[in-house]
Amino acid sequence: MSTCRSSKGASRLTVVGLGVLVIVAAALPSPAQLPTYGVGRPPTADEVRARDRTIPHDGKGLPPGSGTAALGKPIYAERCASCHGVEGREPKYDRLVGGRETLATDTPVLTVGSFWPYAPTLWSYISRAQPIDEPGSLTVDQAYAVTAYLLHLNGIIGEHDVMDAKTLPLVRMPNRDGFVPDPRPDVGKAAKARKP
Ligand code: HEC
Repeated sequence: MSTCRSSKGASRLTVVGLGVLVIVAAALPSPAQLPTYGVGRPPTADEVRARDRTIPHDGKGLPPGSGTAALGKPIYAERCASCHGVEGREPKYDRLVGGRETLATDTPVLTVGSFWPYAPTLWSYISRAQPIDEPGSLTVDQAYAVTAYLLHLNGIIGEHDVMDAKTLPLVRMPNRDGFVPDPRPDVGKAAKARKP
């Protein structure tokens, strides 16, 4: 009985919480009413397209262009090495190279080579988010080249293998099959399946 009572209490609380949310949301001005300060303008559709480099794991939408590790090496040295180290092993920020044998140990080292399951999402992330102090500043070819360089440093592709929209999705990342479905009942697929 007591479980029953407490769960009812919880749902009443949720209702009250929702009510408060609705009131707060109603009090906020809609974006259209916000002051504009007379600067800036909405981006054009072309501008949004040029910056939209979110690529799914299967590589759909990868743009035309290409790069190799050999081409990526000097770009990496100039734009990335200051934070990630010349060989990508600097632990101060994220380590990008090595760690392959560590995932099942007490001190797993998550890197591009040890952890990332797909290469196209690596291109997508680098292209949008790195270098972290100047995100989005790499050209399409530069992003292919530094992606290739990181894959090469991790021993996954050769120095002169050309990475482009066709080849990048074919790269077999070492940890591709290392992921398991989340077994917790309240998250992931299991939870979705239970919902009406
Ligand atoms: C100013 C320092 C800085 C520079 C320069 C920089 N990065 Fe990073 N990078 C970071 C930091 C900090 C993170 C962690 C970001 C986070 O956790 O959200 C990171 C994360 C990453 C990751 C994700 C690693 C992982 O396993 O999750 C990749 C890949 C990466 N950087 C690649 C690059 C590349 C390629 C360049 C050069 C084009 C670059 N970075 C330049 C600071 C930097």
